[in-house]
Amino acid sequence: MKLLKGNIIFTKNADRFEVLEDGYLLIDSDQILETAFDLNEKYPEIEVEDYSGHLIMPTFTDLHCHAVQYGNLGMGLDKELLEWLETYTFPEEEKFSQLDYSKKIFDLILKDLIGQGTTRIVFYSSIHQASTELLMEMCHQAGIHAYVGKVNMDQNCSFGLKERIKDSIEATKKIMAISYPSVKGIITPRFVPSCSSELLKALGTIAGSEYPVQTHLSENKDEIAWVKRLHPNKKDYLSVYDSYHLVHEKTLLAHCVFCTPDEIDLIKERNAFVVHCPSANKNLISGLMPLRRYLDKNIKVGLGTDVGAGHTLSMLETMVQAIQMSKVYHMNHKDLRPISLSEAFYMATKGGGQYFGLHGSFEKDYCSDLMIVKPDPIESIKPISPIESLEKFIYTNDRSRILKIYAKGKCLIDKNTIK
Ligand code: GUN
Ligand code: FE
Repeated sequence: MKLLKGNIIFTKNADRFEVLEDGYLLIDSDQILETAFDLNEKYPEIEVEDYSGHLIMPTFTDLHCHAVQYGNLGMGLDKELLEWLETYTFPEEEKFSQLDYSKKIFDLILKDLIGQGTTRIVFYSSIHQASTELLMEMCHQAGIHAYVGKVNMDQNCSFGLKERIKDSIEATKKIMAISYPSVKGIITPRFVPSCSSELLKALGTIAGSEYPVQTHLSENKDEIAWVKRLHPNKKDYLSVYDSYHLVHEKTLLAHCVFCTPDEIDLIKERNAFVVHCPSANKNLISGLMPLRRYLDKNIKVGLGTDVGAGHTLSMLETMVQAIQMSKVYHMNHKDLRPISLSEAFYMATKGGGQYFGLHGSFEKDYCSDLMIVKPDPIESIKPISPIESLEKFIYTNDRSRILKIYAKGKCLIDKNTIK
């Protein structure tokens, strides 16, 4: 057991922060046991780790990230979605038939990721089974919680990435049979245009309602028109996935920029997750996602970096972008209020974390993933509140303030020990 003292901050609900200034947090290697102001008196036998003046907060959850696009990070962002896929993305993903290349890229992305305070992530790998298995093993070794998906694609892609349905399904079944304590597989039809109806049908059959699923939905207007041409008899984009039983409470729908009212109602009815990816939506000029419409309906929403269409693995920056985009949206839709800081933080911690179970909060029995963040230098000159200190950390994206990161009871980063 560990007893930590500091400025404890988390969100039980999206509308407000829970703050214990100079409070205590009692954890064991797996779980949060208690938060309160007097735990030092209640447990005098436990030595206190004193982080007075520091923030103690949950780590972040990234619900949508393409590990195999990390080699393109911050490059090739001058095209819209469909041309971007053809020009930059498919050629890069073909390289993951080579395990030595995969290993080097996965090494880099995992180091970068953990250094940003993200300890839970849902990854897309490529179509390649061996490379996907490697990514699962490396996530396990790195000590993070992850879902990893082997991408399924049998049409409308480069020759090197085009799968035969039988191979695609066999490899997917093998991935879904692999299980580490905190790393699992996830069914990953890339998006409707790259999957034939037969492939979607077969994936729906293995997905049932218990397997997690991730895919893209209504990101770009040309993409949506293409889906309409491919499936003229389906009511809308989401109905294509739904007709193959791929939409349920463990389904992650990335983007959702242009969903119709019927699609939003169906997402709610199926209790699926929406993943907001503000960086990618801007970089590929996809559109302004009406985040408030989903939140108003109590739909589960998390944040995704969507690397490499998104140019950063930072959930701090992703939160800022979500807030800023909601403000731009508000300029033209005065009835839809912008996202608050606590709402953005909730989506980056508990909101996305619920995909993994009891994650991303400091309520009792939640997973004890946490990070300790040093005060900003300004705090030695003028006093600011813990919420202001957090706000500054988020807006300045100042990773140098991260002192320690714990996941699953293991210390993944300790700046005190880095020379
Ligand atoms: N739609 C289909 N594939 C992709 C992808 O790799 N990235 C993004 N942003 N959208 C997609
Ligand atoms: Fe994506």
